[in-house]
Amino acid sequence: MRRPRGRLILPIASLCGFLLVSSAWQTQDYSQPHRPQFHFSPPVNWINDPNGMVYYQGEFHLFYQYNPFGNGWGHMSWGHAISRDLVHWENLPVALRDEDGIMIFSGSAVADTDNSSELGTKSAPPLVAVYTGHTADRQTQNLAFSTDRGRTWRKYSGNPVLDRQQKDFRDPKVFWHEPTRRWIMVVALPVARKVAFYSSSNLIDWAQTGDYGPAGATEGIWECPDLFELPVEGTAADKKWVLIVNVNPGAVAGGSGTQYFIGAFDDKTFRADSSPSPRWADYGSDFYAGVSWSSMPSGDPRRVWLAWMSNWRYADKVPTSPWKGAMTLPRALALRNTEAGLSLFQTPIAELRILRGELLQAGDITITAANRLLEQARMNGDLLEIEAEFDIDSAQDFGINVRVGENQKTRVGYNVARKAVYVDRRSSGRLAFDRSFPAVHSAPMAAPKSRVKLHIFVDRSSVELFANHGERVITDLIFPDRTSAGLNLYEEGGRAHVRYLRVWKLNPIWKQ
Ligand code: FRU
Repeated sequence: MRRPRGRLILPIASLCGFLLVSSAWQTQDYSQPHRPQFHFSPPVNWINDPNGMVYYQGEFHLFYQYNPFGNGWGHMSWGHAISRDLVHWENLPVALRDEDGIMIFSGSAVADTDNSSELGTKSAPPLVAVYTGHTADRQTQNLAFSTDRGRTWRKYSGNPVLDRQQKDFRDPKVFWHEPTRRWIMVVALPVARKVAFYSSSNLIDWAQTGDYGPAGATEGIWECPDLFELPVEGTAADKKWVLIVNVNPGAVAGGSGTQYFIGAFDDKTFRADSSPSPRWADYGSDFYAGVSWSSMPSGDPRRVWLAWMSNWRYADKVPTSPWKGAMTLPRALALRNTEAGLSLFQTPIAELRILRGELLQAGDITITAANRLLEQARMNGDLLEIEAEFDIDSAQDFGINVRVGENQKTRVGYNVARKAVYVDRRSSGRLAFDRSFPAVHSAPMAAPKSRVKLHIFVDRSSVELFANHGERVITDLIFPDRTSAGLNLYEEGGRAHVRYLRVWKLNPIWKQ
């Protein structure tokens, strides 16, 4: 996070801002240049981390770090949206506001269905949010609760519930741990490059059970941890725990990013299977504060997460107004064995298929023939989903150019010598707002059977690449001209062969 540059006490300016914002909020205009059409972004103002993700009674809740008063970081509060399908979002009023000099920093939410906290009743159990209360010299963990399906929230009168008398102690992720029938919290000690584990029977009284770190990437501070168990695909009953730690700076693409550890959680603390070099969930520049939904509909075994689609390096400079910040697409997580050992895979959730419109499909053709088809069918645009599988053949480099216009394109491809997938946004559009923005972001990836699969989502200001069935993911913001809507395939140094190509035009999620 960026530290606030002095406290903002601007009652009149704030009031005017509030009135302007309220009217913009009502209009819910999602038509501005660069406005994401199938990613979540708020109608107006600044957002960062996703918070409080919980499923309850037919609704997925998404809260987020929000400034109700402006398009830069400040007055941190929890904005709120809900979805029934994880694709379409309904904006709700701000859930938790900064008050009495205490900002509402990141955290999580759970459905306390047994009313263990006694903040609701057995018949009307509460949703409980666990958030960090931030002041200049202290961060503490606090509760807020709702007994009306998250529509209104009250801060708990006994706050804080956890105070280590520390300046940097934040971002609690709480989940129900069935084996011990207790709540577990994993929370960051950012400067120490550690996470701490706590447990509680009632969400109010917490006792520390262990800690983990420093390990992996330690150049930057540790923020927004998550901890969950995943089955190892292809094995009958093997399960592993995954510890997520967001780091800023020092991530793989520079600035902020998300690392993970695979290991065991013995009810008290986490142990990594090995202490390898850092492992990155996403090799792009714009995936931060990735955390998962703490609950899913019954019978849905998936672990689904998303992240803030930006980077602390330049988040406040991206050329968008009257909002700043969006979330990535929701992705389902899996553990699979690869040549490099057990690895975290991400695939876009299947629900996104509902957005698919016109389709162009082709198979077993050359790149030249594929380009001819794309042109004939006018298959291009700024809202696209593309699935392609290539045989490398003699090519040295190949892939797909998206958002192509005069002097603009974003390359999404594979480099054979470097054995890496990449997104090259050096000519993607607007770049000048930050020196570090024009760059190539690559991820090492083997090509078994000399084949590479690329699955790409293109929105007005982003590209998300899921390569080889989610083995590698690259999420990058781009800011092309609206007219840069071309799409074509490329090959260099030899020929690649298109095993299949599917391109869908996608529909927006917002009603205009
Ligand atoms: C991560 C973060 C969190 C903090 C929040 C403040 O991006 O710095 O650690 O709770 O943002 O907005």
